[in-house]
Amino acid sequence: GTALAAVLGVTLLSGCGSQQLLSIGDLSSGYNREVLFMSIFAIALSIIIFVGVSYALFFTVNKFREDKNTAEPAQFHGNNRLEIILVVVPVIIVMFLAILTVRSMAILNPVADTSTKIDVLGRQFWWNFSYPETKADAGGTVANGNEMIMPTKQDVALTITSGDVIHGFWAPNVGGQRAAMPATLKTWNVDTDRAGVYQGNCSQLCGGSHANMRYKVIALDQERYNTFLAAAKAYRAPEPAADSPEARGYETFMKGKSETGALACAACHRVQGTTAAGAAGPDLSFFGTRRTLGAGKWEAMTPEHWEAPDAKAELHAWIKHSPLVKPGSLMPTYDGSEYLAAGKKVKGGVLTDAEIDDVAAYLRSLKLPEEANYWNDTP
Ligand code: CUA
Repeated sequence: GTALAAVLGVTLLSGCGSQQLLSIGDLSSGYNREVLFMSIFAIALSIIIFVGVSYALFFTVNKFREDKNTAEPAQFHGNNRLEIILVVVPVIIVMFLAILTVRSMAILNPVADTSTKIDVLGRQFWWNFSYPETKADAGGTVANGNEMIMPTKQDVALTITSGDVIHGFWAPNVGGQRAAMPATLKTWNVDTDRAGVYQGNCSQLCGGSHANMRYKVIALDQERYNTFLAAAKAYRAPEPAADSPEARGYETFMKGKSETGALACAACHRVQGTTAAGAAGPDLSFFGTRRTLGAGKWEAMTPEHWEAPDAKAELHAWIKHSPLVKPGSLMPTYDGSEYLAAGKKVKGGVLTDAEIDDVAAYLRSLKLPEEANYWNDTP
C-alpha cells in the first residue's frame, strides 16, 4: 500500500508543472486520447473473441471426449451455413475495425485551416523549427533550433522533412510520431491541453549520434504563446557594446579568423537581425534563451542558466571541439584537430580560449525579451 502510494505520489508530483516524462499515454493530447479510444476498442474486441473461441474449444473437447462417446460420432461432409458464418463474421469484425481506424485517421490527419503551422527540419544531428506564417521584421522567418514552441488547446500543423537521411519526429506527449524524409514533406498534427515542457526524440536510427538528437517541445497557453511570437517577430539580435567580449565574439562569429583557418559561425548558422543567414546548422537567433546545447546533449536547467560555471564550460567545450561532446557532430573544430566535412576528414581552424569565450559571450547575449522567455515558470 505504501509502495503504491509512493509510486502514485511520484506520478502526481511529476505531472505538476515540471517537465513531463516521455509518455504515449499522456491524455492531455487529443491525439493520444484518440489512440487510446482505438486501442480500447481493439483490445475489448480481442478479449471477447478470445473468450468466445476458448469457450467453444473447451466445450467441444469436453463434450466429444472419447471416454464419454463410445459410439462413432455423426459424420458431416461440409456445412454451408457454418462456412458462410465463419467467413462473414470475421469480415464484419475486420470491417468494423477498419472503419474505426479510417475514422481516427480522418480526425488525426492535418486540416488545412489549422491556425498554427510549424515547419520541422531534422538533420544529423539536430532539429530546426520555423514558423512559416510569421515573417520577422528583420527579414526571414521566425525559427528556433532544437526547442519547439507551440500553443496549447489547438491543433498545430507540422510539416516535417529531413535535410539528409531519414529521421523520426517523436514527441509522444503531444501526439504520435512521423518520419522525417529527405525531399519529402510530411504533415502531422500535434496538440496538448496542458502547458509544459515535453521531451522530443529522434525515433529513426540515423547515425552515430541518433541518441543525441533530442529536442524540447514547450507548450504555452495562447496568451503567452502570442507574447512569444510577437517578440520573436520583432526580434533583432542585440547590438554588442563597443569593445565588449560580445563585440569581439560577434566579429569572430561573422568573419571567423582567416589567419588561423577558423571558419565563420555565420556561414552555417542564422541569427535573426544580423547578416548571419547560414542554414547548414541550427538557427541560433535566441540561443541565450534556449536551455539546451547540442540538440539536448546538454541542458542548462539551473536558475543561473548559461551564466553558471558548468554551463559556460560546456558551451566552451562545444565551440572548441563539438565532436568530442557529441560524436558525429558535423560542426567544424576550433582547436586545430580534424573533423568531418562532406565525408572527408579536414583540419579545423584555431581560436584561442579567449576568442572562444568571446563567441560564447555573444551567443549568451542572444535573448528574447524577458516577458517572451518561453522557459518562464517552467523549472
Ligand atoms: Cu535522427 Cu535518429
